[in-house]
Formats: sequence, C-alpha cells, structure tokens
Amino acid sequence: MILAIESSCDDSSISITKIETLELVFHKKISQELEHSIYGGVVPELAARLHIEALPKILEECKKYLKDLKAVAVTNAPGLSVTLTEGVAMAKAISIALNLPLIAVNHLKGHVHSLFIEKESLFPITVLLVSGGHTQIVEAKSLNDMQILARTLDDSFGESFDKVSKMLNLGYPGGPIIEKYAEHGDKNRFIFPIPLSQSPKIEFSYSGLKNAVRLKIDELERTTLNEQDIYDVCACFQKTAVEHILQKLRKLFKQNTIKDFAIVGGASANLFLRKELEDLCKKYGTTLHLSELKYCSDNAAMIGRVAIEQYKNGEFTTLEDLDIKTRLK
Ligand code: KG4
Ligand code: ZN
Repeated sequence: MILAIESSCDDSSISITKIETLELVFHKKISQELEHSIYGGVVPELAARLHIEALPKILEECKKYLKDLKAVAVTNAPGLSVTLTEGVAMAKAISIALNLPLIAVNHLKGHVHSLFIEKESLFPITVLLVSGGHTQIVEAKSLNDMQILARTLDDSFGESFDKVSKMLNLGYPGGPIIEKYAEHGDKNRFIFPIPLSQSPKIEFSYSGLKNAVRLKIDELERTTLNEQDIYDVCACFQKTAVEHILQKLRKLFKQNTIKDFAIVGGASANLFLRKELEDLCKKYGTTLHLSELKYCSDNAAMIGRVAIEQYKNGEFTTLEDLDIKTRLK
C-alpha cells in the first residue's frame, strides 16, 4: 500500500491505496473552508496552522495500515509554500520512521488522475483543469507526457467565482455558493462581455469579466441591490464564465479530433458547466469523462493514484531532494 498526503492549499487529506488492485482502503479529508470563509479567501498562515492540527489527527486514524506501507507520497508542487511544507515534513518524518521510499507528486497530475481513482488509467485524453489556481487545457498522453495547450492569462475560472462571491459578501469558496444562487436567477437579464471572444487563440481570461460584474454590482447598489438582483448577477456571471470555456472548446474540437475529453479540478463540480460540456461533447462525438464529485476538489486519493504509477515506474525521490515548488514551469 502507499500512503499519500495532500496539503497544497486548504484541504488536509491522507489516503492509503493498494498498489496491485488500486483499492482505496482509507481516505479522509478535513477542509478548512469554514475557517477561511470570514476572510473571503485562503489565508496561508492560518491554513498552515490548521494542517498541523489536522494531518496528525488523520494519520492517527489510519495507524493500523502503517505496517503494510511500501512508500509514502506527498504533493510537493504547485501550491502555497507554507502549506506544502507541512505535508512534505510529515512525509519525510514517516519515511524516516518506517524506512520507506518517498514519492513526490505534482498536484496537477493528481487532478488528472482523479479520473482514475480505483480504475485503470486512460491515455491519451484531453483534460480541462478548472480549479482555484488553474484554468488549463492539458493534452495528457501518459503520466509523464502532458502538454499544456491553453491556459488563463490572468485569473482562473474558480478564482473568478471566489472573487464575485466576495464582492457580493456571499462567502468562500465562491463556486458552490454562486452556483446555488444562480439557480434562482435570470441568466438573460444582464449581458456581460464574453472574454476574448474576438481572439482566434485558444486561451482564457477572467479578470475582464470580473470587472464587468463589479461595475454591474456598483450600479445596482446605487439603486439598492436586492436578493433577486444578486441571484440574477450570479446567473449571468456563471453563464458568461461557462460560455467563454465553451467558445474556446468549440475551436479546439473543430481543429482536432478528440476522442476522449475530461474535466477535473474543484470547479469541475459545477453542474451547469458539466451539463454544457456534455452537450458539446455529444455534438462532436467525443466521450466525456468526469471524476466523481467527491474527487473534484483537492484530495489525497488522487495523489495516491499518481503515486502508484510512479511507484511502478520506480520514480522515487530522496530526503535531500524532496523540496517544495510553489509554481511549475
Ligand atoms: O481544486 P480545488 O479544490 O483547489 C485548487 O487546487 O485550487 O478548487 C477550488 C476552486 C475554488 O476556487 C472554488 O470556488 C471552485 O474550485 N469551485 C467551484 C465550484 N466548486 C468549487 N467553482 C464553480 N462552481 C462550483 N460548483
Ligand atoms: Zn487543486
């Protein structure tokens, strides 16, 4: 079995996965959403302190499996430096105490592998990663051959939901909140410009949309913003944010034959986005793969799933070499 640790942002999580059968025998995650909610976003120092409390608690719960471990894996990049450090320190301590090899896992490969938890992997696959930190289209040919085809020029998809939620004082994380509010709203009441709609390039941008929403909220505040206005702003924002993705994917699908397509990352839990992508994929004869809702946001099960592949390939690191990287080239 392999023990895997995830602490790249505001989720403390540990998993234990069987190497041969891919069975997830233990998985627990403690989210810090509530603690960060009052600040409208993740406060790195607070996140680090909460990981120090949560990770040992989770480890204690899976103590009985420690004797069966063959390796210990940990997310080492990308993420917040102070929170990545907590997971890496724990992984090193376990490695020393139990004399186990270490495996360093790229968090983004983890999101891709959220599709393959307790399943065989499927490559090649084109993946849209939408999270708080990233909005990317990745051409994944294999574990170690993944190419970024498109990325955001500024804010990410999930981050734009967090920022709009903050503008409306609705709390953090903004994605699920905005999605709920949008259900009661009229998505055709306000017209927000679809980002980069005139550009032939496949790339993303969310800062302009965020500013357009801010201006609309300012305007509504001058005439006293009511509950229905908030629902409508959320619905129109969400529709435009998703339409931006759809426009760029239509271009991609027209230019390339894509047999298998997937969406992963925390924001891939958005049901409106999922529904629109289902329709798009159907139109182009592409098979859409989705990770289970519980594995969309950060978790150690996906890190453990990557670690199994790395274990089989003999991709280990050492105590000296295992370091964190907040960004990746
Ligand atoms: O993957 P994740 O848990 O953490 C990162 O690696 O960033 O993603 C968290 C992000 C947050 O920005 C959150 O607002 C967004 O995903 N998110 C959503 C939804 N659920 C979470 N965005 C839109 N709609 C959702 N339903
Ligand atoms: Zn993530």
